[in-house]
Amino acid sequence: RTTKLYLFQNFWCQPKEIEAIMSFQKHFKAQDGDIIVATIPKSGTTWLKALAFAISTRKRFNVKENHPLLTSNPHDLVPFFEYNLYTDNNIPDLSHLPSPRLFGTHVPLGSLPDSIRESNCRIVYVCRNPFDTFVSIWHYLVKIRPENFEPFSLEEAFDMYCRGVVGYGPYWDHMLGYYKQSLETPHKVLFLRYEDMKKDITFDLKKLAQFLGSPFSLEEERGGVVEEIANLCSFQNLKDLEVNKEGKAISDFENKHLFRKGEVGDWDMVKGHMVFGLSYALSHHKAAL
Ligand code: A3P
Repeated sequence: RTTKLYLFQNFWCQPKEIEAIMSFQKHFKAQDGDIIVATIPKSGTTWLKALAFAISTRKRFNVKENHPLLTSNPHDLVPFFEYNLYTDNNIPDLSHLPSPRLFGTHVPLGSLPDSIRESNCRIVYVCRNPFDTFVSIWHYLVKIRPENFEPFSLEEAFDMYCRGVVGYGPYWDHMLGYYKQSLETPHKVLFLRYEDMKKDITFDLKKLAQFLGSPFSLEEERGGVVEEIANLCSFQNLKDLEVNKEGKAISDFENKHLFRKGEVGDWDMVKGHMVFGLSYALSHHKAAL
């Protein structure tokens, strides 16, 4: 079952991703203004990419008209190092991109290129309840792309997940790596939670803008810019856009599958299947802390 995932530098990934990650590690030169959206898959990457893009380009693009997010998928605007930029032996020239350059990655903190750690670029991370993240991954792997994996039950998949076997996992190592760094260097890593964002996106939008060095002015706040960005990037708005109903922004990944339910607590429906793995997960969590 796990033949498609390999342990590389202490995290799990597919063989075809390893080459791209190694090239990214070797060739990417971070610049001080860069913004890097880092996540474990299915934890809100698409949402955070849209928000970071809208905030950091708001002087260039009007949220009300002809905004790139209305005609492009967030992953086209904020490309992944390992799925879009460094694939197929490509070493892209990224020097011409307008500042701030925005990129995305699932690579754990410890495996990021040195230049990211050494430069003054900023990393934004979103963490999502591991159970909801798991359910989202399971739907994606088993229901949407069953041709890529042997059919396996939710219980088996959850057992693997608890043992850390999931793309870019173990989940705990991934999340705790960025979390600890956000405590040590809060100017470098901003740690957000999907559930907090769902509860009060305005609050986190302001936090994000502040962290990215472009806080909302009083005029912007009074003019409703924060709410406009929140609405532009909302689940329903992005899901309903034509560009997100078709096309493939990430290799063989159909855009429409990036928007499933977008809810907190979806794992509740499959709780019974997952309870047996809970004690293992919690004991690992305690050990990791
Ligand atoms: P569900 O499968 O639980 O619905 P990623 O972007 O990291 O691949 O994560 C995908 C998950 O985020 C999916 O969760 C998807 O529905 C949800 N999602 C996508 N866009 C969102 C948005 N704008 N707001 C909230 N959730 C979003």
